[in-house]
Amino acid sequence: MTHYTLGALLYEGKAKRVFATDQSDLVAVEYKDDATAFNALKKAQLAGKGELNCQISARLFELLERDGIPTHYLELQEPNWMLVRPVTIVPVEVVIRNTAFGSLCKQMPIEPGTPLDPPLLDLYYKDDAFGDPLLTDARLERLGVLTLAQRQELERLAVAVNASLRRFFDGIGLQLVDFKIELGFTADGTLVVADEISPDTCRLWDQQVSDASDRILDKDRFRQDLGGVVEAYGEVLKRVQGACHAPRSGK
Ligand code: TMP
Ligand code: ASP
Repeated sequence: MTHYTLGALLYEGKAKRVFATDQSDLVAVEYKDDATAFNALKKAQLAGKGELNCQISARLFELLERDGIPTHYLELQEPNWMLVRPVTIVPVEVVIRNTAFGSLCKQMPIEPGTPLDPPLLDLYYKDDAFGDPLLTDARLERLGVLTLAQRQELERLAVAVNASLRRFFDGIGLQLVDFKIELGFTADGTLVVADEISPDTCRLWDQQVSDASDRILDKDRFRQDLGGVVEAYGEVLKRVQGACHAPRSGK
């Protein structure tokens, strides 16, 4: 059991709050029930979403760790709280797409559902004020937030995350269409996977269901007003739980 006292609010995002603790190597993350889409133009409170995403993320971070991919995750605390290592988040969102969907099909002539082999890796500048724009190589270089070696490491980790998650989700009957991850540097300069990995940040389709709407078990249910958002996340957690040990817990 980890002993700590909660400190000041360090950061509040759209779906999480990050708090300092009395220990410099521990921060606490609270997963909120707030749901947002389209850069927060659409907002709702979905009771239970925070807990579901926290429980799913904890197990997926432990899966990545078992596959040799470093993450910020330390252990679960309350049902919707986890302890993580403090990191400096890189303001670059990494999206890997295994199947064409979402913004890709709005920006390019690709039919939704087209398999992408090899998967497509896109980098976006993480800044809501600019609407998280797609980055080019030249713009990323101009931003100056990553050296070339760091960028290569970030992409290597993202590709490894895709391989790990894809294999895992396939084993529980879920198609990993695409996902977004964020990475950060720990105090010693190691790049680790941070933020969350949940149906808020992954597109997951039920492989047993052919209907294009009914198969959606992720935040697209909220984005597209399909209803049953929390139920869909609950189904994801049920399957994840069935394939994982109980996560490390400080309680
Ligand atoms: P996109 O098709 O809208 O670009 O989304 C690609 C993936 O990234 C999808 O799994 C949803 C996830 N995502 C986020 O996690 N946060 C975001 O702000 C956006 C736009 C997408
Ligand atoms: N996370 C973004 C928002 O809150 C967009 C999205 O996930 O669709 O607006």
